[in-house]
Amino acid sequence: METWDAITSRRNIRQFADRPIDEEVLDRILEAGRRAPSSRNWQPWDFVVVTDREALQELSKVWRGAGHVAHSAATVALVTPDFTEPRERAIAQYDLGQATMAIMIAAADQGIGTGHSAVEDQDKAREVLGHPEDRRVAYLLDLGYPADRPLRPIRKPDRRPFDEVVHKGRW
Ligand SMILES: Cc1cc2nc3c(=O)[nH]c(=O)nc-3n(C[C@H](O)[C@H](O)[C@H](O)COP(=O)(O)O)c2cc1C
Repeated sequence: METWDAITSRRNIRQFADRPIDEEVLDRILEAGRRAPSSRNWQPWDFVVVTDREALQELSKVWRGAGHVAHSAATVALVTPDFTEPRERAIAQYDLGQATMAIMIAAADQGIGTGHSAVEDQDKAREVLGHPEDRRVAYLLDLGYPADRPLRPIRKPDRRPFDEVVHKGRW
């Protein structure tokens, strides 16, 4: 897919086809996250990838908006140090957003949909994922081929108008 098509085709997918993602394709998607920029290149992330169906079902219980994780082909947990300093935490959130977007665009490039999920129950997430006590899961990103229709450029996205969002030269 062309970069522009990948950007304009991405949408949150919450229902996935019963089709696995080849390991090399999945690794390429994760590589996109690994390459994301971060403040001072500190890379405040680890990616835990889950494909086992039972584990995905357990993981989907971490938040009431995480049900779609259960049916994904794979879910990537974005694990980050449990920063106590607000400034560090804010910067890490920004950086994790960049890694997230890189993963989503690399996935869309392969025709693979992605969905976000917050994580409320950190203990449950740790039980499934096994990360150390000094880390937490910032977000879950589930991946899979869309169940409804293939990804294709969205002509009229549900977004605020361009001229309202973009201020040229000055607000
Ligand atoms: C920080 C963040 C948290 C989100 N959390 C959830 C979530 O917990 N569950 C969910 O189903 N979608 C979640 N979403 C998806 C958004 O609802 C979705 O991106 C938004 O409605 C725009 O739709 P689109 O991604 O299809 O363009 C989240 C998105 C972001 C950026």
